Amino acid sequence: MIEVHDLHKHFGGARAVDGATLSIAPGSITGLIGPNGAGKTTLFNVIAGLLPPTSGQVTLAGEDITGLAPHELFGKGLLRTFQIAHEFRSMTVRENLMMVPDGQSGESLWNACFRRKAIRDEERALVAKADEVLEFLTIDHLADEKAGNLSGGQKKLLELGRTMMVDARIVFLDEVGAGVNRTLLNTIADAILRLNRERGYTFVVIEHDMDFIGRLCDPVICMAEGRVLAQGTLAEIKADDRVIEAYLGTGLKNAPHVPGSGQGLGAADVGGASSGGASP
Ligand SMILES: Nc1ncnc2c1ncn2[C@@H]1O[C@H](COP(=O)(O)OP(=O)(O)OP(=O)(O)O)[C@@H](O)[C@H]1O
Ligand SMILES: [Mg+2]
Repeated sequence: MIEVHDLHKHFGGARAVDGATLSIAPGSITGLIGPNGAGKTTLFNVIAGLLPPTSGQVTLAGEDITGLAPHELFGKGLLRTFQIAHEFRSMTVRENLMMVPDGQSGESLWNACFRRKAIRDEERALVAKADEVLEFLTIDHLADEKAGNLSGGQKKLLELGRTMMVDARIVFLDEVGAGVNRTLLNTIADAILRLNRERGYTFVVIEHDMDFIGRLCDPVICMAEGRVLAQGTLAEIKADDRVIEAYLGTGLKNAPHVPGSGQGLGAADVGGASSGGASP
């Protein structure tokens, strides 16, 4: 579905992405791991049109999408989640979802105020769609809550919910589990699996929590120093000497597995005891 060919993104002398080549299969939930500073977020930002690449090519289903703007990619069903912007926090959860179909901007609601009659039906459909999304994510009880009052995990669910307001084909999630408690993390994982199985979403997931990666992702791609180091199942990745070495170079932080250290699985867990690999 996505092909990235010899992609570079340099910031002055810093080669954040330095010749990354990878492909994302349609219908997959692909994990993207790697030590801090490996270039994962930068890669996402280039693919999603937030940063122009220094060189290289990205295609979506065979079409060259290199350097397209986020709203153009949005129209093609390529989405990445965003934190709820400051100005949206005083709006309700339902209103946040209703913003999405015009391209994740705040303008649609303002237009709605001025062209009330003309779009009343459209708005009704949006409310119904938003409520359906909230039910799917099991947060329908939060519909009228201000987005700013949500917990970290609930905000992540709302961010995921925004991708469901349009016909997404491929969704990029950057550390969706960071700072989220175990229970909500499981809810997020369930939602990702259901969206993948029932609605055919393809996902690319950056995450340091290896329980989460192991439960959701196949294949897993490991990046280091701006390039793809290895690809395979999580078990294969964990056993790969190059991967172990890449994590060793960063002082073991977030390592998926370090022989004999007892560190690794769940090292990035936040907010509760590890459930020890919750299988579906
Ligand atoms: N806007 C920028 N200007 C200069 N350097 C940058 C910029 N963005 C990222 N970098 C550098 O590029 C490298 C890759 O950063 P990136 O955020 O993509 O890594 P990452 O794999 O997402 O790391 P983490 O796991 O910590 O989120 C880092 O060395 C970072 O300091
Ligand atoms: Mg990052």
